[in-house]
Parts: sequence; C-alpha cells; structure tokens
Amino acid sequence: MRQLATSQPSRVEDDFVVGLYHKSKRNFWNPQDIDFTQDLHDWATLSEAQQKVLLHLSALFVGGEEAVALDLAPFLLHVCQQGRYDDALYVAAWTLEEAKHAEFFDRFHRVVAGAPELSRLHVASWQQIFYQALPQAMNALQTDRTPVAEVRALGTYNLIVEGVLAETGYRAYQEVLEKANLMPGLRMGLGYVQADEGRHIAFGLHNLSKLLHHYPQTKEVLEDLMVELIPVAIGIVHEVFATHRPMPFDISEEDFVNYALRQIQHRSEVLQRPFSPTRV
Ligand SMILES: [Fe+2]
Ligand SMILES: [Fe+2]
Repeated sequence: MRQLATSQPSRVEDDFVVGLYHKSKRNFWNPQDIDFTQDLHDWATLSEAQQKVLLHLSALFVGGEEAVALDLAPFLLHVCQQGRYDDALYVAAWTLEEAKHAEFFDRFHRVVAGAPELSRLHVASWQQIFYQALPQAMNALQTDRTPVAEVRALGTYNLIVEGVLAETGYRAYQEVLEKANLMPGLRMGLGYVQADEGRHIAFGLHNLSKLLHHYPQTKEVLEDLMVELIPVAIGIVHEVFATHRPMPFDISEEDFVNYALRQIQHRSEVLQRPFSPTRV
C-alpha cells in the first residue's frame, strides 16, 4: 500500500524545511511588477565599456538562472520518489523561484539591454559548470538515488553554483550599482533574488549536513567535488576580468576572488558543525 505522509497520524515534520516553504510563500514577489523605466534612462547614460560589463554579468546570470531552473527537476523527482513530502513541498516552491529569477533577468535583457545575443559571453569555465558539471550532477539522480549522487547534486547546485557563483555575483553586481546609484529596478529585483537564494542555500546546507551525518563516507565525495569545482568557479572571475581591460566601475578582481573564497570557507565551516535537525 502506498504510504502518504499526510495520512500518518504520528508524522514528524522537518520543521526547518517546512519553515523555508512557508517563508517562500510569505515572501512571494512577481518579476512583472519590477519597473525598469529609470533603468532604461540609466542604461543610456553608461559608457560603452560600462554597458559591456553589465551585459556580460547579466548574460551569465540569465543563463545561469535558466540552467538552474531547468536542472532542478531531477531533484524534485528524486525527493518525490523517496516519499520525502516536506522536501517535495519546498523543492516545488524553489523551482518556481528559479523560474522567476530567469524571467526577471530575461526581462531586464529585453527591456533595458535590447536583447542582444548572449552565448558568446559564456566564458570557458562558466561553460564547464553550466554546460557540463551542473546538468551531469543533477541528471545523475534520474538513475542513481544513492546519498553519494545526492551529495554531488546538492554540492554542485547549492554550494558551487548558488553559494559561490550566484552569491558572489549578486553581491558584487548590487555593490557596483549601488555605488553609482544606477538601475533601481535591477537592484530591487536582485534584492528579491538574493533573499530567495539565501533559502535555497539554507536548504542545501541542511540536507548536506544531514547526509554527511547519516552517511559519513560522503564527506570525502563532497571534499573531492570542491577540489574539482572551486578552481573552475574562480576561473570564471578571472576570465570575465580578462575580457574587460581596463575594468570600469572601479571593481577589483582580487576582491571578487576573495569574496568567493570566503563564501566557500563559510559554508565549509557550517558543514563541519554536528548536524542539528532545527538549523543549518
Ligand atoms: Fe536563482
Ligand atoms: Fe537558487
């Protein structure tokens, strides 16, 4: 007989994950509500070099958001097939949020930047993550339901793509725009996106921490994955900076790299703490 979680009288919820799910619903936002009128004016005042940098950053973001939106489905199926009801609720909300992020950056491109061709801006290391590592790790869950496959999937998605690339990129993007007081619509959307991403990463850390606790052999799998992907993630920063010399907006390659490395350090410290069901 099929076991349905909500039919069990003594069901114990994962309070942390259910809390994230409720927060997602409370903090709902609609990319269509973002007003890009001032952004359009601001875009016209930028130098060609400044436009090129912003276009490059947003090309990587819109491509990255589309990729994570498309690549999350195997994980949703993975938790559903294991009857993980609380996780399924949250991953469904998470999937919608990634769709909204892709929609938001796509709107910015169409409305403000004139929708130019973007794949030429996908630098080699970015391709390595988004064309290969991420879809491979996520699609592996379709045939491999082991904790090792899940650690590889969440490690790639939550720790590298969201925890290092997205966090570093959004933060730097936001700082550049705030310093110059530019693009209020883009900044407003970035704020919403960052808040959503914070929950995605919290979910990933919570689940990874649980997996490392129950299956200690996966610790080495995660360490190997980080050794493999951290240099590629840092490579993206170097390749983007190499494309724009001199770099406008007074931003430093070293600052970006250091911020990215601090994100990794911070997440590693969280995962070294003993697992607690109520926090990450
Ligand atoms: Fe996202
Ligand atoms: Fe995300």
